Amino acid sequence: MSRRPELGPTSRRTERVRVVTTAQTQELDVQPTPLALLLLGREADPKSERGVECPGDLPSPSDPDLVERARAAKEKLGDKVFVLGHHYQRDEVIQFADVTGDSFKLARDAAARPEAEYIVFCGVHFMAESADILTSDDQKVVLPDLAAGCSMADMATAEQVAECWDVLTEAGIAEQVVPVSYMNSSADIKAFTGKHGGTICTSSNAQRALEWAFQQGEKVLFLPDQHLGRNTAVRDMGMSLDDCVVYNPHKPNGGLTAGELRAAKMILWRGHCSVHGRFGLDSVNEVRERIPGVNVLVHPECKHEVVAAADYVGSTEYIIKALEAAPAGSKWAVGTELNLVRRLANRFAPEGKEIVFLDKTVCFCSTMNRIDLPHLVWALESLAEGNLVNRIEVDKETEAFAKLALERMLALP
Ligand code: 13P
Ligand code: SF4
Repeated sequence: MSRRPELGPTSRRTERVRVVTTAQTQELDVQPTPLALLLLGREADPKSERGVECPGDLPSPSDPDLVERARAAKEKLGDKVFVLGHHYQRDEVIQFADVTGDSFKLARDAAARPEAEYIVFCGVHFMAESADILTSDDQKVVLPDLAAGCSMADMATAEQVAECWDVLTEAGIAEQVVPVSYMNSSADIKAFTGKHGGTICTSSNAQRALEWAFQQGEKVLFLPDQHLGRNTAVRDMGMSLDDCVVYNPHKPNGGLTAGELRAAKMILWRGHCSVHGRFGLDSVNEVRERIPGVNVLVHPECKHEVVAAADYVGSTEYIIKALEAAPAGSKWAVGTELNLVRRLANRFAPEGKEIVFLDKTVCFCSTMNRIDLPHLVWALESLAEGNLVNRIEVDKETEAFAKLALERMLALP
């Protein structure tokens, strides 16, 4: 039997070459996240992923009955509630999910449950917004902790993106540009995308989304994750790094000349994931030395040099399938969120598969981790008592255009 798992068409074993990072990329990687995570939970800001502390009394984390309380509340709600759990959620939460998945699968699963009155989304704010957009008006989407936002989604605001479009118009290229926005973006950005003829993508279908976009126009504005955009264009679609420019919303005209914009095929928004962006080439080299024969498997939100040095690259759903298909005795270093990697390491250890986390310093996604058992118990018990809490509701106009973009994604071949 081959030591390599059978992987889907997006998989490709890459050469272990040293990739020279462009000066542009290096500059981006050292700049700080514009919105500090410390602000999370302190205030309500409808324009960002930041939220507020939960109203009401949360159960104590040390309450020994939390598991039983969650089970009882869920049982009382019966078919009225449908609990979705993203793969990065804590074990204590994921055990109560009716379905688990990556952001693409969860968007589809939410849309396929019209009978559930409450969708409890154990994930982050943009995912709950997408679920609200894709479900009927009678269905209510609940995020157990409103402070579970996403720093990447916050890196592109509606105002900044509108300004960017003005810059593209000034450069005389807006007509040729199709926006492609990663699922990890606010409903406002999804609506912008729908309005301007673009589509949403996830890390599972980014290549298909880009192929579709290049059939509609000559250039793509990829929002907000520069790494997913660059990795898909260069690694999966054969474009060169020179085909990509990075639009920095904090600089006049995005820090680009009209000539640079006209020459580019991919205009990448300067955003990144604060978790995946921390994996470095050093970790790949170190793990290859430490564990001979190890397979390096990473998420496409990682930096380009990390993805180029990895053996396999794919979404969280892809990572799980790759490890399911891996033969006994194989060794894997996985570069994605720690909750998922730990769960996979425990699950596959009895099958003789050795799975380690790619980096020693990278940690959990702090916002995904905000959904814990006390918040889940509080949300479920409140719903069971007839109190709708922490509802995520997108306004009608935003919803209409965002839905257009999401439906274009769901219709991709
Ligand atoms: P996927 O679930 O699409 O793999 O995305 C990972 C992620 O960062 C979600 O926030
Ligand atoms: Fe956002 Fe990254 Fe956390 Fe996903 S893992 S929610 S992209 S910060």
